[in-house]
Amino acid sequence: MGSFERDLIVPEPEEHFFQKTDVIENLKRIENLSKRHPVNVLVAGKQGCGKSTLVRQFAARNKRPLATFQIGILSEPGQLFGEHRLKDGETYYQEFLFPQAIQTPGCVIHLEEINRPEHPKALNMLFSVLAEDRKVWTDELGYIKVAESVVFFATLNEGEEFIGTEILDAALRDRFYVTILDYLPPDVETRVLNLKADIDEANALTIVNVANRLRSNTQEPMVVSTRHTLMIAEMVNVGASVKEAFIYSLQINPDVLESILLSLHVELGMTEKESKRVYLIY
Ligand SMILES: Nc1ncnc2c1ncn2[C@@H]1O[C@H](COP(=O)(O)OP(=O)(O)O)[C@@H](O)[C@H]1O
Ligand SMILES: [Mg+2]
Repeated sequence: MGSFERDLIVPEPEEHFFQKTDVIENLKRIENLSKRHPVNVLVAGKQGCGKSTLVRQFAARNKRPLATFQIGILSEPGQLFGEHRLKDGETYYQEFLFPQAIQTPGCVIHLEEINRPEHPKALNMLFSVLAEDRKVWTDELGYIKVAESVVFFATLNEGEEFIGTEILDAALRDRFYVTILDYLPPDVETRVLNLKADIDEANALTIVNVANRLRSNTQEPMVVSTRHTLMIAEMVNVGASVKEAFIYSLQINPDVLESILLSLHVELGMTEKESKRVYLIY
């Protein structure tokens, strides 16, 4: 039993995580509701818009242990619970973290990429723990009951190929409160880059402006997440020009980038050396 306890820790809060006030208010309601019975929350939004951070922050702010499970890689129903193993010619059942986590009062259970299990039946046993009676039967462990005030967060990556929660099975969708996240508005994203990557505001603003041009480019819109703009800002922090940072962080056509920078009246910041393509031994 005790061997998993080290994995169930309360995460440290993230200092510079910004969210809409109504999303924050709703998370407070979820916290209150969970005191009556376990609650399920679905968090949808594009890649890198802060879904995982929101779940971690909820756990941190409410002093709850957090356990995260990749649903996208599951290929069979019982896989979260444990597996049969062989030792010295004998088989035994190795229990995994999931049964432990759902039986831990107040635990936050993060189900990542619930939209993408490898096998459709992989979610079957999960349905039972998300349903009203909150218990599931396993041949190996017997009945497992969800502990009090557990909160399940499922995150779902919205992509170009689908929008919102439509792709989720109706029966599953029925069991969740839903929170939809979006990328941050420019002024807030600028502040995040400024604070998190420790670059000055002018550079932070340029990065956000360029990213927004790429995002809204009508011919070839690009997905540039907050994760990406942060990576770019960190490159700038260690001495790259904004242009270099974009080139080395995204698969981007340099001509497109150059024209965006020119239209924003940004110094290109490329050195003579680079434009002549000098080669050195590395
Ligand atoms: N609203 C936000 N405020 C501050 N940082 C953010 C925000 N959204 C995303 N980030 C940062 O971007 C990165 C990716 O976020 P993450 O939560 O992993 O995204 P997702 O799970 O939606 O793919 C993290 O470093 C996170 O801290
Ligand atoms: Mg995530």
